[in-house]
Amino acid sequence: MKVLVVGNGAREHAIAKKLHADGAELTSAMAKRNPGIAAISKRVELIDINKPADYDRFTGVDIAFIGPEAPLAVGIADTLVEKGVPTVGPIKNLARLEWSKSYARLLLQEHGIPGNPAFKVCRNLFEVREFLKSQPDVAVKPDVLTGGKGVKLTGEHLKTRQEAEAYCAKCIKNDGLVVLEEKLRGKEFTLQAFVDGEHVEVMPLVRDFKRAYDGDKGPNTGSMGSYSCPDHGMPDLSAEVVKKGAEIMKQTISTLTKSVGEYCGFLYGGFMNTENGVYLIEYNSRLGDPEAINVLALLDDSLIETGFRMVEGKLKKPNFRKEATVCVYVVPEGYPDNPKKDQPITVGKLKHAEPYYASVYEEGSVVKTTGSRAVALLARGKTVAEARERVYADANTVKGAVFYRRDIAAGA
Ligand code: GLY
Repeated sequence: MKVLVVGNGAREHAIAKKLHADGAELTSAMAKRNPGIAAISKRVELIDINKPADYDRFTGVDIAFIGPEAPLAVGIADTLVEKGVPTVGPIKNLARLEWSKSYARLLLQEHGIPGNPAFKVCRNLFEVREFLKSQPDVAVKPDVLTGGKGVKLTGEHLKTRQEAEAYCAKCIKNDGLVVLEEKLRGKEFTLQAFVDGEHVEVMPLVRDFKRAYDGDKGPNTGSMGSYSCPDHGMPDLSAEVVKKGAEIMKQTISTLTKSVGEYCGFLYGGFMNTENGVYLIEYNSRLGDPEAINVLALLDDSLIETGFRMVEGKLKKPNFRKEATVCVYVVPEGYPDNPKKDQPITVGKLKHAEPYYASVYEEGSVVKTTGSRAVALLARGKTVAEARERVYADANTVKGAVFYRRDIAAGA
């Protein structure tokens, strides 16, 4: 089976690795040569992954998997579907759940789907000030994709009212609008699901660690690591809370199917469990990074077959191994604010962990950092403690100007 994987991060390495293990003949479309993906691909094409014209060469593949959000937002799924390639990844109008924050909020509001906090889509500073009168503590969200760097919270990133208004004004100038939301307080959780337009099949829960330094200190990052438990839940989340999140996702997909079309691919819901109930923080129209690594390492079913089931509307309940996983990201020194770029790194002999290359590139036979996260290491175990011990036993084999958090899944 000829399978195209679009993207060159650790999430795409996880997707490619699973497809390869399931017997796929891989073609990879990458912006930069990821050595892990390249090593298992029959054919490697370095292209502009966000440019529809660059996809003319892929008509011969049997199915495509699109990993990152940016190609989905510019309609690469539409391009591939038009060429007759069954594609795992929503078309542009459905990926809008992620690329327009206002769209997701208004969809829930207009269709009576639970999960919205108090919010306002503001097109001028007058509307911003009106909302701030009733909700002084807010999350300010640019409408568009920002690579995880756009959302700013009052009291944390925006220290004064002046700073909050200035950031809103900047977003309005750039995008014509900004989304203001009541700041939610509680326990965050993530649900990832396979979706075929009708069925939403939730995967094991994964918790990630967004701050750069131990003790959840320092600036926000794309995530420094993640873990999952053998029972596929989280000890501090009841089944009822998880069900509420899943119900919000199901109602969203059912509404989209009726009003826009069949969403086919991965869906990631970020939620907050608060004293007042479960709220949706945001949707992503892709798997999480690194959360994809945790769940795909446990998937017992063929991902090729699951992909066809998604595009054909025939999803079944997926089977995941009852094991724990711990993933630790090794990142360049100075990441995320002042990362050392273009530094060589090597991954030594690993006893238990599996490496997933992220934002690196190859120069000859040397692998170098780009300034973003470099390599994720994943270990499984009967318990979280065992998986944790295994991954940390291997973490110092990654050599170079890099660091990693030492407390991923500590005490879990
Ligand atoms: N780990 C967070 C994300 O992928 O959005």
